[in-house]
Amino acid sequence: MRTHDIALIPGDGIGKEVVEAAMLVLRKAAEQGGFTLEETVYPWSCDSYLETGRMMPEDGIEQLRRHDSILLGAVGWPEKVPDSVSLHGLLLPIRKAFDLYVNMRPHRLLPGVTGPLRATDFDILCIRENTEGEYSGAGGRVHSGSPAEVAVETSIFTRRGVERILRYGFEQARARRGKLASVTKSNAQKHTMVFWDEVTEALSAEYPDVEVTRYHVDAIAARMITHPGTLDVVVASNLFGDILTDIGAAIQGGLGFAAAANVNPSGGVPSMFEPVHGSAPDIAGRGLSNPIATIWSGALMLEHLGEEAAAKAIMAAVETVAGTPERLTPDCGGSATTLEAAEAIASELQG
Ligand code: NAD
Ligand code: IPM
Ligand code: MN
Repeated sequence: MRTHDIALIPGDGIGKEVVEAAMLVLRKAAEQGGFTLEETVYPWSCDSYLETGRMMPEDGIEQLRRHDSILLGAVGWPEKVPDSVSLHGLLLPIRKAFDLYVNMRPHRLLPGVTGPLRATDFDILCIRENTEGEYSGAGGRVHSGSPAEVAVETSIFTRRGVERILRYGFEQARARRGKLASVTKSNAQKHTMVFWDEVTEALSAEYPDVEVTRYHVDAIAARMITHPGTLDVVVASNLFGDILTDIGAAIQGGLGFAAAANVNPSGGVPSMFEPVHGSAPDIAGRGLSNPIATIWSGALMLEHLGEEAAAKAIMAAVETVAGTPERLTPDCGGSATTLEAAEAIASELQG
């Protein structure tokens, strides 16, 4: 039987609930699809940090490296551990260590889900640069606490980094509806963003079949709300992509719906799949979290592992249950718990 060896990092808050719920669905899909998921759970979280002083063991990356894929819930519990410690000790180093430079986030409405917009006909694929840019971590503070204090956070954009993410976007656009939105703030940021525009321009000559539009990030943020149907593939830097994908989540019905795949297209390392949302301390531990974002991320993981039929079956089951929102969690208007919503989706799976 085919076996896929996956690492589970439930993390903090609702991360634990949504991973447990998603695994109900993924295990059933595996059973029906004739393959096995071999699971190893890594209980790395803010709680384990409080016990060990580390968000993951020193050889954490090496432990993860042997797996085919990683499914992560969410990391962060600011009341216990500052985000600057927890995220920089677990989530962000995984993205960087495996050079998972593509963070792909699909935004579309599931049939039956009423988002906040009047426009319902949109299908946007956000491709977020995931290893450099505004998240490079270069910077520091001087004159701490004094009136002369200065804090600096330097964005680093490399030709290799910008070219490869844009090229990935062009390829995706070519395979979809042939439209690429390149996002910058080149009217204000004259070094990094003008550079990004130049690389976009140069690559567009190689893809004459792709229609390229350059947007400023503020303008495309508005467009995602007013005219989402005009967008196809959106390529953005790390920070801009982070912000735009929470807007994407909002227009598709909320953070409980938005999935993500962190991928290194060259392969040879585990890719990481996770919902766009965080640990949601405001609702954690009460069974209120919507598991769909993580189930959808799990479907992206199975697709990546070559289990396309199982991935399709999961999305079909998600779509069926989305059509009867009373079987979903309160954010969808239902009264189901996280696990009940996942069970409803699992029950609709057809092998
Ligand atoms: P958040 O995404 O956790 O929550 C924002 C809002 O959306 C909250 O009101 C929450 O209840 C709601 N929400 C999120 N997911 C939901 C779901 N599945 N179902 C229903 N409602 C949902 O963002 P935040 O509050 O800014 O962050 C909380 C913590 O999570 C912080 O420590 C933050 O750094 C961290 N975080 C982690 C990740 C990650 O691990 N990938 C992503 C984002 C935020
Ligand atoms: C996300 C999250 C992370 C990010 C945070 C928690 C560091 O918001 O995955 O969207 O900004 O990448
Ligand atoms: Mn985010």
